[in-house]
Amino acid sequence: MKDAAPQTVYLKDYAPPAYLVDEVHLTFRLAPTATRVLSRIRFRPNPESSSRDFFLHGESLTPIRAAIDGQEVRPDITEAGLTCAVPDAPFTWEAEVEISPETNTALEGLYMSRGMYCTQCEAEGFRKITWYPDRPDVMAPFTVRIEGDAPVLLSNGNPVGVGEGWAEWHDPWPKPAYLFALVAGDLVAHRDSFVTRSGKTVDLALWVRPGDEGKCAWGMEALKASMRWDEARYGREYDLDVFNIVAVDDFNMGAMENKGLNIFNSAAVLASPDTATDANFERIESIIAHEYFHNWTGNRITCRDWFQLCLKEGLTVFRDQEFTSDMRSAAVKRIEDVRMLRARQFPEDQGPLAHPVRPESYQEINNFYTATVYEKGAEVIGMLKRLVGDAGYSKALDLYFDRHDGQACTIEDWLKVFEDATGRDLSQFKLWYSQAGTPRVSVEESFEGGTYTLTFTQHTPPTPGQEEKRPLVVPIAVGLLSPNGDEVVPTRMLELTEARQSFAFEGLASKPVPSILRDFSAPVVLERAASRAERAFLMAHDTDPFNRWEAARSLARDSLIATIREGAAPDADWLEGLAAMLRDDTLDPAFRAQVLALPTQSELAQALADRGQTPDPDAIHGAVEGLKDAMARHLSDLAPGLYDAMRVTGPYAPDAEQSGKRALGNAMLGLISRRDAGALAARQYAEADNMTLALAALACLLRVGKGSAELAAFHERWKDDRLVMDKWFALQIAEAKPESAVETAARLTEHPAFDWKNPNRFRAVMGALAGHHAGFHRADGAGYALLADWLIRLDPVNPQTAARMMTAFQTWRRYDAGRQAHAKAALERIAATPDLSRDGAEMVGRMLG
Ligand code: ARG
Ligand code: ZN
Repeated sequence: MKDAAPQTVYLKDYAPPAYLVDEVHLTFRLAPTATRVLSRIRFRPNPESSSRDFFLHGESLTPIRAAIDGQEVRPDITEAGLTCAVPDAPFTWEAEVEISPETNTALEGLYMSRGMYCTQCEAEGFRKITWYPDRPDVMAPFTVRIEGDAPVLLSNGNPVGVGEGWAEWHDPWPKPAYLFALVAGDLVAHRDSFVTRSGKTVDLALWVRPGDEGKCAWGMEALKASMRWDEARYGREYDLDVFNIVAVDDFNMGAMENKGLNIFNSAAVLASPDTATDANFERIESIIAHEYFHNWTGNRITCRDWFQLCLKEGLTVFRDQEFTSDMRSAAVKRIEDVRMLRARQFPEDQGPLAHPVRPESYQEINNFYTATVYEKGAEVIGMLKRLVGDAGYSKALDLYFDRHDGQACTIEDWLKVFEDATGRDLSQFKLWYSQAGTPRVSVEESFEGGTYTLTFTQHTPPTPGQEEKRPLVVPIAVGLLSPNGDEVVPTRMLELTEARQSFAFEGLASKPVPSILRDFSAPVVLERAASRAERAFLMAHDTDPFNRWEAARSLARDSLIATIREGAAPDADWLEGLAAMLRDDTLDPAFRAQVLALPTQSELAQALADRGQTPDPDAIHGAVEGLKDAMARHLSDLAPGLYDAMRVTGPYAPDAEQSGKRALGNAMLGLISRRDAGALAARQYAEADNMTLALAALACLLRVGKGSAELAAFHERWKDDRLVMDKWFALQIAEAKPESAVETAARLTEHPAFDWKNPNRFRAVMGALAGHHAGFHRADGAGYALLADWLIRLDPVNPQTAARMMTAFQTWRRYDAGRQAHAKAALERIAATPDLSRDGAEMVGRMLG
């Protein structure tokens, strides 16, 4: 059932719940289209609330019966829930409802994935399971009994009993309903155990379908490493006897931190060397960590309401980033995170979907699981840590866990803890949570009488609903280098708080070269008219690895822009600097591979738009191809030797060292195959004994117009492996020429294995199309039209996944009038779809708005 007029929910309207829950008992009698859910819930009036209106959320539930204190009642039932007269004292609510997991294609609530029952309740899925105050500030211990014929029956907490056709679970930790989970199916466990630092043994299990046992080892190692790390770095121990993880094939997002029973998209947990790439392994390690870390930042301390989502997500992303930095290379991780921030969050923050890290209103909360809430939310915590220092940060976090364990909190609570622990006033810093948009920071320098002065100006462009912006607190890490490359002033944290502000460095013998925004100390766009020579100097000499990379990156970007605007030849200094870095064996191969990666075509489009020029996707594509050819020529002497030097001997390991070598080796292969017509790539493909080498080689072959035999062989070998087949689908589109990307995608939608109701498969094809800049933004609008067709088709089946994919259109206004007209027509066609979901309606509405 659809809502006639979507309601907007506002942060300012928050009111505490009228009733609190002391205990929840649930019984599930599982059946694919007629599951019975029996609930027995102890309610009590909330002394903090003046309301005595009893309202329970509930959607798509078939009512069977309801009772209060054993007396049958007849509540008023609407599409959104029920109201009922209740006693003015604690009481027991009992209800029975029927639901149909098998026909639940939205993958929210209780649903089935290839015969297996599973749940996804965040944010508001529990109301599709039974009537309940489905809001995160209502926390209660749950006891769950599952009856069904599946061999494995799982829920949150500790097992309390199991028998033929039933199992019972008890979770003693009060939790909101969004953390509820249930899994039932024919599953096998990959088991291990972990001894916490206070000596408690925890039984660990990763549950998968029979056949996937060989893909579990890495996820389990990552889990144990995460448990160890959270004890060592944050002093946080695990708090149940068991920790279960389940891999599910049909899942809208990456994974979910349900208490004691994390549920993962199989793509985010299953891996073996022959089926998963190094990048997949790294991502799995970080998602396992992320979900595990939520046990404290999210579960033990949760959010008061969904506007506070960044309280758990920003913090937990920040924690998983720290974890990966510790497990691998901190410099490379920072570069990866910034690349991702710029690729995903900056476009959001600079377009029609811009919203604050803590939004103030929404129609559908699922639309706010965004790069802004997650990634910018993590950046805000990184800034906070830079401002208060490491010691201040850990003092504040200790206080946070002490003060708020067991509570549902707000950003105000979070910032108060930092103020109390460090004595700092954070009222201006708090603007980072309420002000949307990417700040622009420009710099001027002067040198006089041994004093070097940097003057910064900050400005945040308007975003929807926020015309005026105030100056933010921007931590700017600056180091100064002498012209011979020595660091004369080590990294200092400048705090920019005014619209315009100067900082002086005294006693310098000569004018230094500044290294500004080291380690990307704030999520801003630094506008700086540094000369090419100066950036080439920083690329060669900066002691801050991030800024070395950044200098190289900005030279590459400017070279591309000069090519696009005036047909300029590639920047020879940059090419020379690149060659020098590649030859420098003291540099981590993973870092060198990062230096080789060019800005994305979408980023270039934005850079052009920022300079007042309408981006032409074909010209951008042409310039990037031209630059890659120039790189291949310029580096042709060193590429083969470096390729050989990066060969890994011995058994495959997805660790930082080996994967760094493969990344650099594959980058060399990319350059070499532009000149040898794919000969080396064909050999690498034939000899590859892991997916990282095989997939990179196949990509190179497709890029040079070869590889059809390999593609067919790949299909034959992997046709029964869904995760590998997702790669097969995506790769062909990613490597298609701009003029054929749409046709390639359209042809693949007719492939019998294009199971479009599976989110991973849908994303493999439509996500790859949306990610193909010149292909998707084709001048005749064919890319927009194809995506719109499929979004309209998916929306009624799975609104969440469709709405997320709609963000592909968020940059539509930066292109030329012809493209804009096509994009607008596509969006209007989506908007005009009868019964468009609330998710979809909100997204297109904001993009057209
Ligand atoms: N809390 C999960 C995570 O970040 C994300 C789940 C969001 N799901 C959703 N349908 N909105 O780990
Ligand atoms: Zn999360």
